[in-house]
Amino acid sequence: MEKKATLTLPDGKKIDFPVLSGSIGPDVVDIRALYGQTGAFTYDPGFMSTASCNSTITYIDGDKGVLLYRGYPIEQLAVHCDFLEVCFLLLYGELPTQKEKDEFVGMVTNHTMLHEQINRFFTGFRRDAHPMATMVGVVGALSAFYHDSLDINDPRHREVAAFRLIAKMPTITAMAYKYNTGQPFMYPQNNLSYSANFMRMMFGTPCEEYRINDVLVRALDRIFILHADHEQNASTSTVRLSGSSGANPFACIAAGIACLWGPAHGGANEACLQMLEQIGDASKVGEFIKQVKDKNSHVRLMGFGHRVYKNYDPRAKLMRETCHEVLNELGLANDRLFELAIALEKIALEDDYFVERKLYPNVDFYSGIVQRAIGIPTSMFTCIFALARTVGWIAQWKEMIVDPDQKIGRPRQLYQGKTQRDVTPIGKRG
Ligand code: ACO
Repeated sequence: MEKKATLTLPDGKKIDFPVLSGSIGPDVVDIRALYGQTGAFTYDPGFMSTASCNSTITYIDGDKGVLLYRGYPIEQLAVHCDFLEVCFLLLYGELPTQKEKDEFVGMVTNHTMLHEQINRFFTGFRRDAHPMATMVGVVGALSAFYHDSLDINDPRHREVAAFRLIAKMPTITAMAYKYNTGQPFMYPQNNLSYSANFMRMMFGTPCEEYRINDVLVRALDRIFILHADHEQNASTSTVRLSGSSGANPFACIAAGIACLWGPAHGGANEACLQMLEQIGDASKVGEFIKQVKDKNSHVRLMGFGHRVYKNYDPRAKLMRETCHEVLNELGLANDRLFELAIALEKIALEDDYFVERKLYPNVDFYSGIVQRAIGIPTSMFTCIFALARTVGWIAQWKEMIVDPDQKIGRPRQLYQGKTQRDVTPIGKRG
């Protein structure tokens, strides 16, 4: 039987709305006809109760701590797949066969280089520019270089744009870093894996051969997998909203990067690491937790809490495991900040303040420590996140373009300003 929800308006009039069910997750009340039938809007700042689209890509159950890409649990993908397999899955809906994977890797590898003039584009930025500022500019500028993949109505153009973005993001990210440090740009080396190539472009120099460390490459690959998609978060919604006007994919991804830059979204792992540095060592944890619980202090335990997860973020568990592996590999098993993070987590998980509010570690709690150990500076953390999330943004953008329900995103408002009035000529205004 068709499910419906009935709304009773202040004048007593009753209207029925269809209730739609997904394959899992909460039902949604389809209120598309609300304005047409009643002249009223809904009010939902921050989209706390609004499904903005339908999607088949990623599913999160925040209460149970579940994250699925195309139905597969993140825990299994992180163990059995590499990042490019996950990219294939997010883009096409199924895990690749070996043959499909080889072809996909070949396509991505074909597109890793940047148009040579983009190198000169970089040099227009100040050396001390934040690398995210450079990324927003350079990714947006790709639309000025790749005219043969800008027609959003042509499936082939969309496909090529997807390959270009996934392939070029590591090159752009590493170049933004190299430009900051004053070292020469490293060209991609296509016989390396996606993550190994990125590490070489970040940390290699033309003076000597870069030695690949498989444990660190695997850790980075895992960071990419864990950040690849997270359904309709702020930056993904930004990409969809930008794309809904027909903007080209490079411009849409640049918009996503800009949104991700904010500290409430992609910037939290940087803030978490700064917090650990400020606390200093495990003996100060008690004092710090007291401050966090004091409402007047406005201090938050960074890396804890999440809008959707009201349970342990499944990505945080995997990141904790990776943290152990990386620190052991580098002989940093007694790393001061890692020990501090473990002590902080233990106390917070037992403390009523955090238990009552369902505050658990999120992915950022450990990812900063891993990145720092690998040698990635804090200013690059959000860039790494952007690199990883690009595939999610592109998959969601492609899904939106072919969705028959898709319309230009145009929210309405509750107007609380002045009602209509007449202009007084300037000479008569008192
Ligand atoms: N430390 C201390 N108290 C917290 C924290 C925290 N990290 N997070 C939430 N709370 C408290 C709030 O003070 C509030 O308490 P109250 O009910 O007594 O007023 C209650 O928990 C609910 O908090 P909200 O801010 O309403 O929860 P919301 O869902 O809006 O916020 C957010 C989620 C922004 C992530 C928040 O938990 C936070 O600021 N965490 C720290 C920053 C962080 O780690 N962000 C990374 C998110 S993951 C990602 O982007 C990849």
